[in-house]
Amino acid sequence: MELGAVVTGAARGIGRSVVERLRSAGYRVVALDVAPEVKELAEDGWILPVVADVTADETPGAAVERAVAKFGRLDLLVNNAARFLRRPALETSDDDFDGLFATNVRPAFRFARAALPRLADSRGCIVNTASISGLIGVPNQVAYAMTKGAIVQLTRQLAVEWAPRGVRVNAVAPGAVDTGFMDEARAADPDPAASLAVTLSNHPIGRMSTPDEVARAIVFLAAPESAGITGTILSVDGGYVAR
Ligand SMILES: NC(=O)c1ccc[n+]([C@@H]2O[C@H](COP(=O)([O-])OP(=O)(O)OC[C@H]3O[C@@H](n4cnc5c(N)ncnc54)[C@H](O)[C@@H]3O)[C@@H](O)[C@H]2O)c1
Repeated sequence: MELGAVVTGAARGIGRSVVERLRSAGYRVVALDVAPEVKELAEDGWILPVVADVTADETPGAAVERAVAKFGRLDLLVNNAARFLRRPALETSDDDFDGLFATNVRPAFRFARAALPRLADSRGCIVNTASISGLIGVPNQVAYAMTKGAIVQLTRQLAVEWAPRGVRVNAVAPGAVDTGFMDEARAADPDPAASLAVTLSNHPIGRMSTPDEVARAIVFLAAPESAGITGTILSVDGGYVAR
């Protein structure tokens, strides 16, 4: 049986690895990103690249309906698109705050709301990409960390509300992952090499995770073997929050 999925933030990084892993696991995927590079994902009937902004009002409903129209079902939503902001609290403007919540939080809720009735039909699930920044304090990223705390709580709330209807909702909480996301933030630091050294020293395994390691955790949470897991925030952080 072919399964159907919607993945946001699919053009690169973790989202792209998720699409590749899901395809190997037998899913057909609506792969959505604001970046046109998402079209590089083969448009062969298995993966349907969609260039769209998650913040646009029509995007979530259109993506869910596209998946159902093309695949006949929706089994999985991966809310992964987000922006990062490294900025001390006193330098974080109202626009910074509103902009991050508009990108990182509101669309995840709106995608979930659009998908939940379809997921109830298939007894499917949602996996959200949170962050260790949503679990513990990390300096100089207050607005970003608040958005990820909101994703953690979105996960728990929907898990409890929708368990009786057979829908599971979980999240992964990555530590630093070797993607463009962190490279760009680090490039803006006064001393990128020192910043990287601090990042690595915070991870007991001494390295960043790979996008594929996070993707495997997402696919694990979606798999039937995880039928007993809902409301869980699975850290993929090389031991960061265990210290
Ligand atoms: N990289 C890390 O160290 C790290 C750590 C913890 C959590 N995360 C989380 O992992 C997820 C993926 O991050 P990544 O590292 O792969 O980042 P990335 O920047 O490589 O990929 C994010 C993707 O989201 C897309 N995107 C951003 N805004 C969008 C919008 N408005 N509409 C549609 N698409 C949009 C981008 O175009 C990009 O392709 C994010 O939720 C991020 O918060 C990343």
